[in-house]
Amino acid sequence: MQYLKSFEQIVAQQLARVEKMKNDTNFIDYHSLDKIIIGVIGGDGIGPAITAHAKRILENLLVDEVEAGKVELRTINGLTIENRAAEKAAIPTDVLEEIKKCHVLLKGPTTTPRKGDQWGNIESANVAMRKELDLFANVRPVKVPELGIDWTFFRENTECLYAMGSQGVHISDDLAIDFRVITNPGTERIARQAFEYAKANGKKRVSIVTKANIVKATDGKFLEICKKIGEEYPDIEVDDWYIDIMTAKLIDEKRRSQFEVFILPNLYGDILTDEAAEFQGGVGTAGSANLGKHYAMFEAVHGSAPRMVEEGRDIYADPCSVIRAAAMLLSHIGYQKQADALFSALDICTVTEKKLVITGKSDGATGAEFADYILDTIRR
Ligand code: IPM
Ligand code: MG
Repeated sequence: MQYLKSFEQIVAQQLARVEKMKNDTNFIDYHSLDKIIIGVIGGDGIGPAITAHAKRILENLLVDEVEAGKVELRTINGLTIENRAAEKAAIPTDVLEEIKKCHVLLKGPTTTPRKGDQWGNIESANVAMRKELDLFANVRPVKVPELGIDWTFFRENTECLYAMGSQGVHISDDLAIDFRVITNPGTERIARQAFEYAKANGKKRVSIVTKANIVKATDGKFLEICKKIGEEYPDIEVDDWYIDIMTAKLIDEKRRSQFEVFILPNLYGDILTDEAAEFQGGVGTAGSANLGKHYAMFEAVHGSAPRMVEEGRDIYADPCSVIRAAAMLLSHIGYQKQADALFSALDICTVTEKKLVITGKSDGATGAEFADYILDTIRR
């Protein structure tokens, strides 16, 4: 009965986490800091190349703040799959220490090992970072003006099947069991984040997505708590959907433009945001904010494309997703003017003007040329 012991440990860990969440009430206030440290993590594959372009853009936009010592841009090396595999750790200890010295992070893609591949059974660096820094809100905007789509997803980022994705148990040769975690404080904080966002941005509708008709204990709790928080926002209409019909409604031309803000448990959020990003041109075009009370991390929502590096094509990799993440970062730490300038330059360069095109090959622009194009557009 070894697995009963493991289950006891898991329960104790999660109860301790609940207590920690309950006592963790205040958000970091960036204005009160003497200096905001922005850590830039290259990651794997094309990551170092594309994040370097985003960093250059940040350096340009924040040149005065850096000079005045109010902002520091710090490159963090070593979050590579080779180091992680060698240390058998999702995040090498010394890298995690460096990360924790920053206030906000811009992160390139990191390779997620699969069962049976050369890297062994290490946890995804993304998932580990979300847990280590308690980045509970994964905010993913998707906008396609010509289709009337303007969605913002609030994906819970630390619980659900992800909380113990690497701690499932093989009970016998024939039986494996994983665990799904939903907690009151974990749900309250994501729900509040979503409703506060809706209120601040004039959104009229928040849609809660679960499968509470089947997954009764955990999704039932998630739905109930989100609805309860929603009662505090009488001007916002709240509706709830099951994940299966919601995946269908996103492609329903008559319905989809009515959705505004979504709240979802982790795994449904993972899946639905990939579907949503496809309307905008695929996950490669999306930016993603991972917000916590003490840290925030902004990342590109695409893979590390190791084949591009093997073929020497990383200089042609598209930096726009991580540059968009950089714009979200600027907005989050209070540099809204610079963020708006960058968002608008991204729109001009990738949608309306398109003077340069990235193809990922030598017939297209390089990432460096594209970053210059964005900087020139900002200065116009
Ligand atoms: C995402 C990704 C990650 C996730 C992977 C890379 C671990 O798909 O950010 O959506 O499953 O959350
Ligand atoms: Mg995903």
